[in-house]
Amino acid sequence: AANGPLSGMHILVTAGPTHEPIDPVRYIANRSSGRQGFAIARAAADAGARVTLVSGPVDQPTPRGVTRIDVQTAREMLSAVESALPADAAIMVAAVADWRVEQEAGQKLKKDGSGAPAPLPLTENPDILATLAISVQRPKLLVGFAAETEHVIEHAKVKLARKGCDMIVANDVSAGVMGGATNRVHLVSAQGVESWDEASKDVVAARLIARIATQLQDNA
Ligand code: C5P
Repeated sequence: AANGPLSGMHILVTAGPTHEPIDPVRYIANRSSGRQGFAIARAAADAGARVTLVSGPVDQPTPRGVTRIDVQTAREMLSAVESALPADAAIMVAAVADWRVEQEAGQKLKKDGSGAPAPLPLTENPDILATLAISVQRPKLLVGFAAETEHVIEHAKVKLARKGCDMIVANDVSAGVMGGATNRVHLVSAQGVESWDEASKDVVAARLIARIATQLQDNA
C-alpha cells in the first residue's frame, strides 16, 4: 500500500511479554502471546507505514514488510524502542513485566535443604510508555494498552494521565483474552470513552490503525 493512509509514516509497535531472568534456567514472564501487537504491526504495514516491531519472546511470524527487533527483557525493550525513534506514532502493546529480579543469579538456584525458599528480591522495571511520553523525541501520537481484570475503564483513565499518553486501549483480560483470538476494547482518551464490540484481534487492529491514520492526518 504505497499510497495507503499511513504512507510516509514510521509506526513503532511493541508486542509480546518480556522475560526477566532469575537464573540461567528460570525467568519471570506472563501469558501474552503477542497476537494483538503483531496484528497491529501488520495492519500498519498494510496501511503503507514503515513499521518497527519490538517484540518479546513470542511464537508469531513476522508480518510482511515489518522490521522486527527481538528482545527478552524490559530494559532491552526500552533501549530498542529508543533506538527506533523518531516515529510518528508509537503503539505499546507489549505486556512488559512490572518487576525483575534485583540480581540475576550466575548459577542455577538450589534448594538448601532447610525448607526455606530462596529469597527473590524484586525491583521495578522502567516504564517504556511513560519514558517515551517525556522523551524529547516523543511521537506525536502515543498509544498504550491496559489489560485489566476489573474496573477496566476507571483504571484506563488513571493510566492515561499517569503515563502521559494520548490514548489507552483498555481490554478486559478476565476471560481468556490473553492468548485468545478476540478482544473487546474501550478507547480512552481526552475525547472520552468509545467502547467497541468484541471482534477478532485482526479486526481490532485494522480499526485501530484506521483511527490512528485519521488522527495523524488531523494533526498534520
Ligand atoms: O501499567 P500497565 O502495565 O498496565 O500499563 C500498560 C501499558 O504500559 C501498555 O501500553 C504497556 O505496553 C506499557 N508498559 C510499558 N512499560 C512497562 C509497563 C507497561 O511500556 N514497564
